[in-house]
Amino acid sequence: MRLIIKEDSAAVGLWAAKYVRNRINSFLEDNWDEARSAAGKTFNLGLPTGSTPLHMYKNLVQFCKEGSLSFKHVRTFNMDEYVGLPMNHAESYHTFMFENLFKHIDIDPNNVNILDGNADDLELECEQYEKRIRDAGGIDLFVGGIGADGHIAFNEPGSSLVSRTRVKSLATETIEANRRFFQESGVDVPKRALTVGVGTVMDASEVMILITGHHKALALHKAIEQGVNHMWTVSALQQHPGALFICDESSTDELRVGTAKYFKGLMEEHDKLIE
Ligand code: PGA
Repeated sequence: MRLIIKEDSAAVGLWAAKYVRNRINSFLEDNWDEARSAAGKTFNLGLPTGSTPLHMYKNLVQFCKEGSLSFKHVRTFNMDEYVGLPMNHAESYHTFMFENLFKHIDIDPNNVNILDGNADDLELECEQYEKRIRDAGGIDLFVGGIGADGHIAFNEPGSSLVSRTRVKSLATETIEANRRFFQESGVDVPKRALTVGVGTVMDASEVMILITGHHKALALHKAIEQGVNHMWTVSALQQHPGALFICDESSTDELRVGTAKYFKGLMEEHDKLIE
């Protein structure tokens, strides 16, 4: 595991965006040829919603505008979506992704994958999502945020650490945290969501988790300093060979001083990953 500690959420977003850009650009340099292009080979990127990744998305949009990044050969898979919320509702994750990323970049809309929380058969939708990921060749880099209770995607406390994409009832804490977004929309706060499973995230070649704010400090401590535990589902990443946590200073408040010092000592090495 790598732990990158930056001063604030803006610095976290910039570092994360540079990392994503490097992974996409090295994929193109290493793998690109006409045969692969014709076969539709893409860099497969897992993406989150929420307030934490907003700085990363702003920077990715900026890189595209400057011409240092293109999403032409990138396929995306979002982590989750609410059940029963109209796709064009202001708080749907479809809307979030189009407003904050997709409409500003050169991605082929056919390469965007987001779970359909209004599908007639939700279980079938989840099965097909897993199949779409498999058929694309698996996810190269899954980017995620976490909840204050340590959830990854909507894998709430107690979720199986080998779970796959499925329908999930949301924890009261998550419903309450989301309520503010629905207060004026005339729609009740959703109580169920479709989400990739912990196992789905674990199958990715690399996983990058963004964590900012003091309210996530306990979750970060549980994620990396205590044992693997299904009550803090992000802790499953201790068993992932390519896990990367990008955190701001305040989210490290519950870490042992020695842990933070150890990883800060590696910063020069870690910065080579975004050069
Ligand atoms: P946040 O949500 O980025 O808005 O804090 C993250 C999450 O709950 O997974």
